[in-house]
Amino acid sequence: MLLRVHNLTKTYGNEVAVDSISFDVNQGDYVAIIGPSGSGKTTLLSLMTGMLTATAGDILYDNQRLSQISKRELYEIRARELGLVFQFSELVGNLNVRENILLPGIFTRKFSNAEYQRKCNYLLEHLKLESIQFMLPRQLSGGQIQKTAIARSLINEPSILFADEPSGDLDPDNSLLVQMLLNEYNKKNLSIILVTHDMKLAFDAQTIYGMRAGKFDQVIKGK
Ligand SMILES: Nc1ncnc2c1ncn2[C@@H]1O[C@H](COP(=O)(O)OP(=O)(O)O)[C@@H](O)[C@H]1O
Ligand SMILES: [Mg+2]
Repeated sequence: MLLRVHNLTKTYGNEVAVDSISFDVNQGDYVAIIGPSGSGKTTLLSLMTGMLTATAGDILYDNQRLSQISKRELYEIRARELGLVFQFSELVGNLNVRENILLPGIFTRKFSNAEYQRKCNYLLEHLKLESIQFMLPRQLSGGQIQKTAIARSLINEPSILFADEPSGDLDPDNSLLVQMLLNEYNKKNLSIILVTHDMKLAFDAQTIYGMRAGKFDQVIKGK
């Protein structure tokens, strides 16, 4: 899947949260975005995933304008092809860790049940969540919730993963688990768009954009 962002702008009143940003993401690209808080990183990800509507500019998925994709089709694309990890991810409170991870598969049925179970076991193992897989969200730490949300975002093997501070709640050992998992999926052609403060994570990306006041004001690494 090719993602193209062209002159993308989002304003709130007089404030320009995202200021005419353009960049392309090809299948398998790994892009990191770093920048101070308030620079527009979360707004940019929300625009790219269709959760916010742009004030101006375009987002194209495989040359199709996001603004022209129907709500229903967008829902389908998001469920099947996009993985989303938010800064403060929420799990379904009455489902355990394992069930939360498997949930996107129940809606989309991209793989067989046996494949989903296998993929779930793999993610539980590699994120060291096996021992808590039958626990409920209210019994979990912030880091365990974050890792569960990461596993959930990967269960459908999306084309593009959007992750907003995925290691924000994690200690160094757990950050490393996430880092290794993201690298492995990226090698299998997952595109990653990552917002992070964690430079260890950022430097795995081929391209690092520095964001300030709604713009990519520097290319720290890459093209
Ligand atoms: N819903 C909103 N209403 C008004 N202003 C907002 C809203 N969301 C974000 N902003 C403003 O847009 C700017 C960028 O915010 P954000 O994208 O959250 O930055 P970051 O994720 O880099 O910290 C900030 O100045 C913020 O106050
Ligand atoms: Mg943010």
